[in-house]
Amino acid sequence: MAAPRAVSEAPPPGRVWIHEGDNLEVVRGFPDASFTLIYLDPPFNTGRVRERSVETARSRHPVTPAPSTETVSLHGTAENAGATQALGREVEAHGPDDGGGRGDAVVRRGFHGREYERLKGDLRAYDDRFDDYWGFLEPRLAEAWRLLADDGTLYLHLDYREAHYAKVLMDALFGRERFLNEIVWAYDYGAKSRRRWPTKHDTILVYVKDPARYWFDSEAVDREPYMAPGLVTPEKAERGKLPTDVWWHTIVPTTGREKTGYPTQKPEGILRRIVQASTRPGDRVLDFFAGSGTTGAVASALGRDAVLVDVNPAAIAVMRARIPHGTEAREEAD
Ligand SMILES: C[S@@+](CC[C@H](N)C(=O)[O-])C[C@H]1O[C@@H](n2cnc3c(N)ncnc32)[C@H](O)[C@@H]1O
Repeated sequence: MAAPRAVSEAPPPGRVWIHEGDNLEVVRGFPDASFTLIYLDPPFNTGRVRERSVETARSRHPVTPAPSTETVSLHGTAENAGATQALGREVEAHGPDDGGGRGDAVVRRGFHGREYERLKGDLRAYDDRFDDYWGFLEPRLAEAWRLLADDGTLYLHLDYREAHYAKVLMDALFGRERFLNEIVWAYDYGAKSRRRWPTKHDTILVYVKDPARYWFDSEAVDREPYMAPGLVTPEKAERGKLPTDVWWHTIVPTTGREKTGYPTQKPEGILRRIVQASTRPGDRVLDFFAGSGTTGAVASALGRDAVLVDVNPAAIAVMRARIPHGTEAREEAD
């Protein structure tokens, strides 16, 4: 009989599937509720760079620009019956029909209907570039929501320019009661403005599919040193403290094992916490803005299966090198 595995022994690596293509097209083929964790780190709404990456994605796989029309094209098709059903349930749960047929109300109004559309209109008045960005993101978030298991968690990684608009819209889209946390990832690197407080943080918005059922295991998370270890017992100081919602963590070191050279690569330490808290070994993790594949590399090392999608061939090449046991998949993952 095989000896029982020591508790501290690393789990066998999880499987990883790597898809090249526009994420909206790729994930439409995945079954409903098939992922416990979805982490999304979309290109930021930061002017020229962002415009270029969004336009690249759009020009390869056009997405209808008007959000209401997008909703129709996204949810009105047979292959998106699951998303339509999810939206239908939300509309029933959160407000009366605004007239017209039931199906019309579902496709026109999204999750929270008129309130959501009004909010989008208001935000457009402040920043029409955000409207364009959200037109790109909204159908992808709707797909993410469809793919999230009942005990699942969605992490959306944003910078300070998007985070507040996105929070308001996501509350309206998914339901404020499903908002779990705002994580601030603080770092201290690079040039510092002398005309304002240097902006050195990203924001990660966290939503759960079902507030009564979501998986969250704080005990599984790597602990961190106390800021004032002298104020706690030596045992506590030795064990470290649970992280809060503010995570001080360096950016990916410019040299070292972790660095892939992919420009927007996120640190493994940030993803490790997310995967440890919000999944169990054997669960399935999805990242459809995968870039260098940080989510997949971390999830696999922790014994979770991961599906990664990116439209950029350079990202696929980096992932292939970083995760040699990954399977390149053009068809739906099993
Ligand atoms: C901010 S980066 C993600 C970085 C990643 N978290 C990491 O650690 O390397 C965003 C990624 O989204 C990809 N992307 C942009 N639009 C896309 C689309 N429509 N479908 C799939 N990937 C897309 C870009 O190619 C880019 O690699």
